[in-house]
Amino acid sequence: MALHNKVALVTGGGQGIGQVVAVKLASMGAHAILADINIENAEKEAANIRANGGSASAVLLNVADSDNVQQVFNLIPKNLKPLDILVNNAGITKDGLLIRMNEKDWDSVLTVNLKGSFLCAQQAAKQMMKQRQGTIVNIASIVGIMGNAGQANYAASKAGLIGLTKTMARELAPRNITVNAIAPGFIDTEMTRVLDEKVRDGLIKQIPLARLGSPQDISHSVAFLVSDQASYITGQVINVNGGMLM
Ligand code: NAI
Repeated sequence: MALHNKVALVTGGGQGIGQVVAVKLASMGAHAILADINIENAEKEAANIRANGGSASAVLLNVADSDNVQQVFNLIPKNLKPLDILVNNAGITKDGLLIRMNEKDWDSVLTVNLKGSFLCAQQAAKQMMKQRQGTIVNIASIVGIMGNAGQANYAASKAGLIGLTKTMARELAPRNITVNAIAPGFIDTEMTRVLDEKVRDGLIKQIPLARLGSPQDISHSVAFLVSDQASYITGQVINVNGGMLM
């Protein structure tokens, strides 16, 4: 149980990649906090973890709301112990071609994906700095590296998250806190299930391993990055994409 006695918060832990990451961290012995704007899903999935012998709780969190973020993070040391692990996973898409993208869709994607990660990391860092240990994993995207037609807002948010990752890694390293990003390729979740079959088939043709990734593929990399085995790794972007980008 590599993460025994550790407290891990996963934003967007109610479904998709975040839910599978929470299950994985709990299976390694951590107490997993599933923090999601969809509290029903988060509660259901936390109950599933507990039913399988793990330790987990759910909390309503809108990463884009700074008061709410502060409130949720303040409760962690009070109710449990200071946070050891943060996975900034909550993210949304509002796709559209550049010339048609409205300001609202630009703002909401940047606010959830980038500002939300900043707000959560800032609160987590305060607790981790006092303990002189901790680890943060930001879920970026292959699109933040390659760009993608129709995703100006999303690509910018994920490229920004990579810059944020490297800056936090430099600032927090003196306090023994590591910060890394994972850049998933296309993963089979609700987010990609909205794509029509032709688009999905077209994507698969571009992937040397010839399949979409699974949330489990991502959770294994998160598990490694938050473990002691990765304690000398910081400021890195781990590409988990079936070879789509190399
Ligand atoms: P998903 O749509 O299945 O799940 C996202 C979760 O985040 C949901 O539970 C949702 O309620 C929660 N969420 C949304 N807005 C929130 C907010 N303001 N505050 C708190 N929680 C919020 O998405 P998926 O596919 O699991 O994606 C997870 C992360 O992985 C996202 O950051 C996404 O950008 C990233 N990613 C996903 C890829 C994919 O192909 N599915 C590829 C690359 C990156």
